[in-house]
Amino acid sequence: MTDLIAQLRQLLGAPHVLTDGDLSAYEQDWRKRSHGKALCVARPGSTAEVAAVVKACVDAGVSIVPQGGNTGMVVGSTPDTSGTQVVLSLQRLNAVRAIDPGNSTVTVEAGCILQQLQQAAEQAGFLFPLSLGAEGSCTIGGNLSTNAGGTQVVRYGNARELCLGLEVVTADGDIWNGLSGLRKDNTGYDLRDLFVGSEGTLGIITAATMKLFPLPAASLTAWAAVPSMEQAVALLGLGHRYLGAGLTGFEVMNQFSLSLVDKHYPHLRVPLFRDTPWCVLLENSDSESEEHARTRFEALLEEAMEKGLVTDAVVAESISQARNLWHIRESITLAQAEEGLNLKHDISVPISAIPAFVAETDALLAQHIPGVRMVDFGHLGDGNLHYNVQTPEGGDAAAFLREYEPQVNKIVYDSVCRHGGSISAEHGVGSLKVDSLPKYKDPVALALMSRIKHALDPKGLLNPGRVIRAD
Ligand code: FAD
Ligand code: MLT
Ligand code: ZN
Repeated sequence: MTDLIAQLRQLLGAPHVLTDGDLSAYEQDWRKRSHGKALCVARPGSTAEVAAVVKACVDAGVSIVPQGGNTGMVVGSTPDTSGTQVVLSLQRLNAVRAIDPGNSTVTVEAGCILQQLQQAAEQAGFLFPLSLGAEGSCTIGGNLSTNAGGTQVVRYGNARELCLGLEVVTADGDIWNGLSGLRKDNTGYDLRDLFVGSEGTLGIITAATMKLFPLPAASLTAWAAVPSMEQAVALLGLGHRYLGAGLTGFEVMNQFSLSLVDKHYPHLRVPLFRDTPWCVLLENSDSESEEHARTRFEALLEEAMEKGLVTDAVVAESISQARNLWHIRESITLAQAEEGLNLKHDISVPISAIPAFVAETDALLAQHIPGVRMVDFGHLGDGNLHYNVQTPEGGDAAAFLREYEPQVNKIVYDSVCRHGGSISAEHGVGSLKVDSLPKYKDPVALALMSRIKHALDPKGLLNPGRVIRAD
């Protein structure tokens, strides 16, 4: 082990192989569900150095945990407690390599922070639409490895749909140059789509070519009070009809999730939440003008009110008001963390099944867990809810998780299954859902996944114990 550390220091330079001091930024996950211990943290600065680190680790039989911004929700990017795993941080590999305006693409290294990529695109006159609450610290490599979603999927799709090509270091330490900017390429199996969403278990993403889009002429945000989940789904349908491709965001939030934001961040002044079970945040991006956007938005909200889908609404009058509304939405995760440890579920079901899913699962949880508090919010436009369980008021969160986690997960996942859904819509499997997956995933699909894992990582050294367990 000390030989490996010495070898890595030789390859990267001593300052880029960390063993001492407080390494909790690399060893503890964002949600504080797990605190591991790394053999060392290796911080290569180029693709060739990543390949050299992988080769050295594989030769030494040491497993590798790839890490970007360490903002993942499912404990996938931190080491176990053995002190034998190398955390491979991509943070120094962060350049925007090239923008091709004629092809509307950007080629970027894996450790580039998402917000920096958004800014680079905007400076070049383009929109890079992937957007999520962690964008100030998550990386494009982590986004691709988890196939991240976020708040613009309803219009632009998730990370996979935005990706045209990848550069990957394989488990053999080879470099696959698949940085194609092609929108059409049918020359065999789609390796890109194999690595996207593989959570560091099949290879290390070192760079990607991503799609860019025209900047909208205007973007408007509205906040609506909605009397039920049925009405929220009906409002989504109306939104699609009125705004077409202009509907770029459709987020739902229950009253309790907003009350947590109000409690922990009162300066944000959450609107309209006190007298309604649900609020919806809508975004309308228009290629014509702000006036056109406003006219369409107002017509939509007028019909929604006439039909009783919306009881009250505000349309942001300025960019700063719009930003504040989005900030409220993005603060739910932080407010939940302030409130204490919690159980997160990142589920998807067909949009049409969401009202029944919520009603039935809420009732089951209330029946089994006295005082249960539901933090229910998410990307309704994609059929994706963060259907989260907070410890009952005044309860000991750690004790609650110990006692109730398996039971709560079973109730929620069984219900997801009955409604034809998935137990992970956008956060991935990591280690938190690795034992649940075999119960809810098609067995043939799991067997194929296992064969792919063995074929690409025969020694099982890439992020072991994540996504699927070795048999
Ligand atoms: P990490 O957390 O470092 O890693 C995530 C996984 O990818 C791990 O399995 C890791 O091993 C692997 N990995 C990382 N980089 C590489 C690489 N270069 N090559 C191979 N494997 C790699 N997710 C959403 O989908 N939608 C949201 O709306 C959303 N909102 C969030 C809001 C907050 C406040 C937070 C904290 C998280 C949120 N997330 C969301 C979860 C998280 O998945 C995303 O933040 C992001 O995609 C993770 O990127 P990262 O760079 O932090 O990856
Ligand atoms: C979100 O949509 O805000 C995220 O996916 C984070 C979360 O689930 O808390
Ligand atoms: Zn989300």
